[in-house]
Amino acid sequence: MVSHPVPPKDPYRAISEFVCDRLPLEAMRHLAEKKKVPLHRHSMWYYLGGIAGMLLAVQVVTGMLLMVYYVPEINSAHASILKLNTQINFGWFVRSLHSWGANLMILALFVHLFSTYFMRAYRKPRELTWWTGLLLMVICLGFGFTGYLLPWDDVSFFATKIGLDVASKMPFVGSFLAYMLRGGDTVSQATISRFFMIHVAALPVLLLGLMGGHLMLVQVHGMSEPESFKAQPEARKSYEKFFPNFFMKDVLVWILALNALFALTMLMPWSLGPEADPFAPAPIGIKPEWYFLAPFQFLKLMPPMVGPIEGELVGILLMALVGIGFVVVPFYDRGLSKSSARIATAFGVVVLLALIAFTIWGALS
Ligand code: HEM
Repeated sequence: MVSHPVPPKDPYRAISEFVCDRLPLEAMRHLAEKKKVPLHRHSMWYYLGGIAGMLLAVQVVTGMLLMVYYVPEINSAHASILKLNTQINFGWFVRSLHSWGANLMILALFVHLFSTYFMRAYRKPRELTWWTGLLLMVICLGFGFTGYLLPWDDVSFFATKIGLDVASKMPFVGSFLAYMLRGGDTVSQATISRFFMIHVAALPVLLLGLMGGHLMLVQVHGMSEPESFKAQPEARKSYEKFFPNFFMKDVLVWILALNALFALTMLMPWSLGPEADPFAPAPIGIKPEWYFLAPFQFLKLMPPMVGPIEGELVGILLMALVGIGFVVVPFYDRGLSKSSARIATAFGVVVLLALIAFTIWGALS
């Protein structure tokens, strides 16, 4: 009998067989291929969530690199950032990428939030996608607030102090929350320790869990279709496959967004102010980051008292009502009547215009 030599197994095939036997990759590919993206004149808004996700990945990588040198101690925090900026190879670059990346990501998230709102993507069956999205927005604003203090320069110190004073005015929980975040009555070492832990441990864990849920829901329900698209006869509607067609375009848009991030980083490296002096008076015209300017300016305009109630408290309650409006909109506008849809749109337009107007006003005043 002639024995034939066994042909050597293709190593690529062997690896892919090994992985496919152990992970549900086929099912995952099927899920990715099943999703189709509707093609219409608002399709460009479908890129925003992906841009936010890509920028988040930049934040994770640059954040880990920054942690190598950053020291969360009141006497060393500012010096460690100064060292990064001036003595560590590419330290200024990584820090600028992280700071500009945070701002671009929050901008992308605001656009993502309002575009999904106006496309009514919060309606059944996407209520959970919408609510996980709202929580993600709160978490990302939390990243911005806690990260801002860490360099311990004068602007970050006083902006945080003012932010926490405002938070303490919230009814019932405000003073307790502000006390817990400060770790006492003043912004001090305890505050840096807490903010650092929240920024690098608590929020990332919450974010990763919620983002996993958010993206899974997007995949399960597919992309929402605007009313005008849905109303068309089936034969006139066109779609493209999410994978690989839309995904390749996603990658192209990410490269463009990365270019914008690199341009900002190179042309306007992130600056560092003088070290905070808790006993000095607050510098004149101190302001929070641009994404907190609208509430800041709105509260500044409130009179000291509105009837028997403190003006700032009235302002906080009005802003809380806006937040509640966004949470309950999937119950209110369920696509059953034209009037509720119109009111939901009007609410979104008013909030968006107010946000833009108060932000510009806050920046100029
Ligand atoms: C870290 C934050 C976030 C990431 C990484 C993210 C990512 C994504 C991605 C990749 C998509 C699919 C593509 C798209 O429609 O853009 C998506 C869809 C969606 N997102 Fe987000 N998102 C985030 C935050 C938010 C926020 C703040 C909201 C609003 C409250 C939100 C609400 C939605 C909704 C409703 C959809 C479904 C859109 C549709 O089906 O047309 N997301 N998100």
